[in-house]
Amino acid sequence: MSPSPVSAVYGLPPPELAPAPAGAVQVSPLIPGSAALEDIAPASLESVTVAAPPGTIERRYVLALALRALAPGGRLTALAPKEKGGSRLGKELKAFGCEVHETGQRHQRICQTRRPDAPAGLEAAIEAGRPRFSESLGLWTQPGVFSWDRPDPGSVLLIQALPPLAGRGADLGCGLGILSHAVLASPQVTELALVDLDRRAVDCARRNVQDSRAGFHWRDARTGPELAGLDFVVMNPPFHDAGAEDKALGQAFIRRAHAVLRKGGVLWLVANRHLPYEGVLGDLFGKAALKAEGGGFKVYEARK
Ligand SMILES: C[S@@+](CC[C@H](N)C(=O)[O-])C[C@H]1O[C@@H](n2cnc3c(N)ncnc32)[C@H](O)[C@@H]1O
Repeated sequence: MSPSPVSAVYGLPPPELAPAPAGAVQVSPLIPGSAALEDIAPASLESVTVAAPPGTIERRYVLALALRALAPGGRLTALAPKEKGGSRLGKELKAFGCEVHETGQRHQRICQTRRPDAPAGLEAAIEAGRPRFSESLGLWTQPGVFSWDRPDPGSVLLIQALPPLAGRGADLGCGLGILSHAVLASPQVTELALVDLDRRAVDCARRNVQDSRAGFHWRDARTGPELAGLDFVVMNPPFHDAGAEDKALGQAFIRRAHAVLRKGGVLWLVANRHLPYEGVLGDLFGKAALKAEGGGFKVYEARK
């Protein structure tokens, strides 16, 4: 058994601003293979360093879990860009009963504190950020996961355009599993790999898509899991990496889809109208047919 960790790091805080201790266990759900902050024994850690996420409910959940994991007097360092929750960090920590030392550097707010003997409001913040079943979505979801509280209009457009698919396929960047759910309505589908970088999304998808044809993978879809000779790929590819727009990420998804399809296999893709995907689709697939358009989104079908 591996020894219990003494420190943890959530995400990738810039080391020059908030160096995590050597040996700190990674607890970000966005880094495949990481431990879960939820599973760390309460009051067990000496220090936690948090690159705090931008969503308010998600951030308070992570800060509360970090404080719960710390031993009384344990050190918490939390930082975030000013305009992405950083300006609220200090106030949020004070509301948990922390005394906060706050500094600013390179557009980041950096808060340092120690776990108080009796922090306030941790359970409520943890409760607010937990996975839950949403009656309006009809799905398991969790604050912080893509489109966690409303269906993405691009995904809805893709679902409306999709014909019944057949054979073996993949849903790259599956999120809560909304596309997979639609794909598996076709009895001709024999196998479907759901892949996402976000552990929380994969956990929700597992609950949302209870189907023996489905396999679940907490992986970076650009590199894994091993897939080949597929009949189809569906996706609403991400175009943000660490909060910044990154067209290369969507283009890499298209390259990966091409690589895992058999000759004659088909890619169904939805993307924001402004994203430059025609070039890479044309280079790899020859021609991509525009199958639907609306609300700022475009749906393509591309055959290998
Ligand atoms: C635009 S969302 C689509 C989610 C879902 N398919 C839907 O239609 O609601 C893109 C998804 O890709 C995931 N993602 C981002 N980067 C990824 C990567 N490198 N590998 C796998 N999934 C990734 C995100 O976590 C997110 O769930």
